[in-house]
Amino acid sequence: MPEVSVALLPGDGIGPEVIGEARRIVDAVAPQHGLTIDWHEHLVGGVSIDAHGTALTDDVLEACSGSTAVMLGAVGGPKWDTTDPDKPRPEQGLLGLRSGLGLYANLRPVRPWPALYEASPLRRERIEGTDLLVVRELTGGLYFGERGREPERAFDTCVYTTEEVSRLAEWGFRAAAGRRGKVTSVDKANVLETSRLWREVVIGVAAGHPDIELEHMLVDNAAMQLVSRPADFDVIVTENLFGDILSDEAAMITGSIGMLPSASLGPGTLGMYEPVHGSAPDIAGRGVANPIATVLSAAMMLRYSLGAPEAADRLDAAVDAVLAAGHRPPDLGGALGTREIGDLILAALA
Ligand code: IPM
Ligand code: MG
Repeated sequence: MPEVSVALLPGDGIGPEVIGEARRIVDAVAPQHGLTIDWHEHLVGGVSIDAHGTALTDDVLEACSGSTAVMLGAVGGPKWDTTDPDKPRPEQGLLGLRSGLGLYANLRPVRPWPALYEASPLRRERIEGTDLLVVRELTGGLYFGERGREPERAFDTCVYTTEEVSRLAEWGFRAAAGRRGKVTSVDKANVLETSRLWREVVIGVAAGHPDIELEHMLVDNAAMQLVSRPADFDVIVTENLFGDILSDEAAMITGSIGMLPSASLGPGTLGMYEPVHGSAPDIAGRGVANPIATVLSAAMMLRYSLGAPEAADRLDAAVDAVLAAGHRPPDLGGALGTREIGDLILAALA
């Protein structure tokens, strides 16, 4: 049986708890699809700061780049919160991995489960039929531009190159071709120069995809349309910061950010898979975190990096079945713990 090497980065807060369930479930399902997983675990984020003084060591980055895939839990927590620019922050680990591994395309699918329609703060008739994919640029823009701090002044810079925009847009158009054939490019072209470049490049990429409908939307308007008519979106392509904000907003369509998975991909098959939610320090260590976003991220890993789409479909279906049967973790108004949800998913797989 082919053995694939997966770097496991539990991270901080609820990270280890949700990662534990994803690993258990992947170990159960992968062999049935001809795969065994060689997991190797490493420190990243706050736990790495505690051990090594930095959120990501060169050794860990190297171990990840030599793997078939990377699974990450979450990073961050009050222990490492600081506004001092000279102190290490857990998030630097995550950003270092994204950029060090060249994972420029971040896919965040949002598809509310009919069983959870009542859990969303939006009315059912608004969210019914929503099936959208945020394709977020992940290694450029404000997150990686030059920045600085002086006593009474600070700055961050947003830079995009045509190459960065076009490779991301290509991802979006290719994804739309396998979906409903529509791309919404979100920018702030009425104000920002990077957004005007973004728009021009996206129009150029669109010329190579004549069957895909392209619309442009300003980010403030997109934030509004996402809650007023989410079902009209198919693929959203957007820059790093806008994608960060809009994907949290879109998560609430499903009722909880505890449900949203993500895949970060680059030029090859190496990908990093992590839930969209954070480390939730307020509930860490209590066994109550919802593991579903991480389990669904593991399904994306089986699909995009491990070449096991049938296994991914089975995981997705098992989660559907658990929710349809009425089982709920606390973030969705229920009382089932992390392990119990994991057990139910395993039972649904069997
Ligand atoms: C995300 C997170 C990260 C981001 C943080 C933790 C740096 O919010 O993955 O959406 O802003 O990209
Ligand atoms: Mg975010």
